Amino acid sequence: MSDRIERLLASMTLEEKLGQLNMIDAGMPPGGEDEMKRQIGAGTIGSLLNIHGAEKLNALQRLACEESRLRIPLIFGLDVLHGHYTIFPIPLAEAGAFDPNLWEKTARASIEETRRAGVTLTFAPMLDVCRDPRWGRIAECPGEDAWVASRYAEAKVRGFQGSDLSAPENIACTAKHLGAYGAVAAGRDYASVDVSERLMAEVYLPPFEAAVKAGVATIMPSFNDLAGIPMTAHGRFLNDLVRGQWGFAGVMVSDYTAVAELIAHGVAEDLAGAAALALKAGVDIDMQDEAYVRGLPAALERGLVAMADIDRAVRRVLDLKMRLGLFDDPYRHVSAAPLSADAAAEITALAREAAARSIVLLKNDKGGLPLKNPKRIALIGPLADAPLEMFGPWFAAAPLHSATVLEGLRAAMPEADIRHVPGVTIEGDDDGGIPDAVTAARDADIVLLSLGETKDMTGEAHSRGRIELPGRQRALAEAVLALGKPVVAILTHGRPLALPWLFERADAVLATWFLGSEAGHGIAAVLTGAHNPSARLAVTWPYDGGQIPIYHSHRSTGRPANPEVYFSTRHTDLPIEPQFPFGHGLSYTRFAVTAVAAAPAEVAPGETITIEAEIENQGEVAGEETVFLFLRDPVASVARPVLELKGVAKAVLKPGERKVVRFTLNTDDLAFLDRDLKPRVEAGLFEIFVGPSADRTRLTATTIHLRGAATP
Ligand code: BGC
Repeated sequence: MSDRIERLLASMTLEEKLGQLNMIDAGMPPGGEDEMKRQIGAGTIGSLLNIHGAEKLNALQRLACEESRLRIPLIFGLDVLHGHYTIFPIPLAEAGAFDPNLWEKTARASIEETRRAGVTLTFAPMLDVCRDPRWGRIAECPGEDAWVASRYAEAKVRGFQGSDLSAPENIACTAKHLGAYGAVAAGRDYASVDVSERLMAEVYLPPFEAAVKAGVATIMPSFNDLAGIPMTAHGRFLNDLVRGQWGFAGVMVSDYTAVAELIAHGVAEDLAGAAALALKAGVDIDMQDEAYVRGLPAALERGLVAMADIDRAVRRVLDLKMRLGLFDDPYRHVSAAPLSADAAAEITALAREAAARSIVLLKNDKGGLPLKNPKRIALIGPLADAPLEMFGPWFAAAPLHSATVLEGLRAAMPEADIRHVPGVTIEGDDDGGIPDAVTAARDADIVLLSLGETKDMTGEAHSRGRIELPGRQRALAEAVLALGKPVVAILTHGRPLALPWLFERADAVLATWFLGSEAGHGIAAVLTGAHNPSARLAVTWPYDGGQIPIYHSHRSTGRPANPEVYFSTRHTDLPIEPQFPFGHGLSYTRFAVTAVAAAPAEVAPGETITIEAEIENQGEVAGEETVFLFLRDPVASVARPVLELKGVAKAVLKPGERKVVRFTLNTDDLAFLDRDLKPRVEAGLFEIFVGPSADRTRLTATTIHLRGAATP
């Protein structure tokens, strides 16, 4: 392969080399469509994004492979964050299933559809840990925890890439956006990030390292700067750390127009300077802004880059194309047989399963759920029959229909009299429809209130300063709640919403996020009890936006939060605790952790520790329980978080059944980064907590002692 690449490289002109580094949005080519085609034929575009569909893609691939001088095939890239044609739950929701098998299966199912549309590279998985629900892109990420995001990274890379990139059933994927994009100031998209090196190393980078270890083919640096250095130009991270220390040998692709944006950041004077900074930092492909094709010739002349820098990037791109098998069969993906009806039905069933398994039962007082066969149901609210809104931020190729709550309920409860009244729109300020909604609610046995956000209130460029219900939805909800009827709230949203008044007054509340194509059927399955809810929050749910950032792995501080202590770290006008902790999620049954034991209780460096927890189903129905294992190192030379997630286990239990789940840690799991950010294991006591969420009052503790290591 490398001989072939060297021969090709030796025969390339500068324009052709830069062409390989040039990725263009086929939906919005800078020079128009004819110019794009001309450039593909001239070999000065090496890859395209935002295009799918066999015919269109084949025609463009033909231009590259039959008309261009060197016949180098194109890569076609697309964002497949949570499905292609069939839409799965948004990543923040799916993360709450805490199931790497499911994460892998939905990625694999997505590419069954995507690859047939000719796509060979997806800009997923998104691995930005995020602790700020104001940031619109929280919907795209796997939540607040680095350990979870790392397992998610591995599962998604396996799902997209399989074990062999050249096999026709696999496509290349991208770990994005490196790094700390989830920590943008005030949750404003594209804003600056200024986090410590420690936070980078402990929280924001591990998911990317996990993706690299899993063999991810490409990495995308994030738009943001980190303490003044835009990630697109951050050679210390991209080159030294990711390529140097982690051994990443793949392709780095810039984010959309991010190279030219180095000028707006204020670190480059012109396109040549911007292109040189990005190339030198390790960015191989320049997305959409033509900064490389236009800027690098001048950068070469000025001596800002050398031909060897360009060659290095071209080699990596050619290598990826070869590894994808495109030189052998540039049409291999689009020529696959269409999906059989059975395969399509399996994907739909998976989308339904994923939807049901991503719903978090936040509250369930007075046994409001599951529904007890009510005759008359009032389905009130603007999100009950809003098919487009079920999709969430990414649905490039989806048909414009999804199963809504109304559709799902009607299918699941054909006997019930379901009356749907929207009452208000999602965002508008007209509350003229509220009286009709109240009348419908008054006549019903139970009220289902379908409230939330539009799909466009999260996702890129959709940060919000207030994480509350938009429009007049609160007025609608309060008018209905005032009737004193049983009310179940069904929330549709891309972020946790601060709604303490609703959580206090509704009998039951479901967090249903954006669940995708099968949303309504998943929701109906939970409402009726056909599916016993099992998902948990992958992100802490604030009581109020003023608590942000609030997350489980914070530090103790010298004055730990205490409502009784005046001089303690807290807000005087807000609770200390979040509305719901990380990991929260109820079931229709009751589980208890009845025993936790760690063995051996004394360990030496290099040894393995087994932690066993016994779980009992103490309720009346079968269900799936998730238990978390947290670690705390109470005395260390660098203060450690009050809880650090180290494992997740699941068990499906019949009523009355007990099962033992097992976690394995080794002493490396007890390590932390010392004052010089070097891994260090220190002797002493470690606390281990096992339980259903990060709520300390619900965790069962045990301890282990590490002997024979350095002392704090
Ligand atoms: C987003 C990326 C995405 C790219 C291509 C950018 O605006 O930040 O996440 O992969 O567009 O669609």
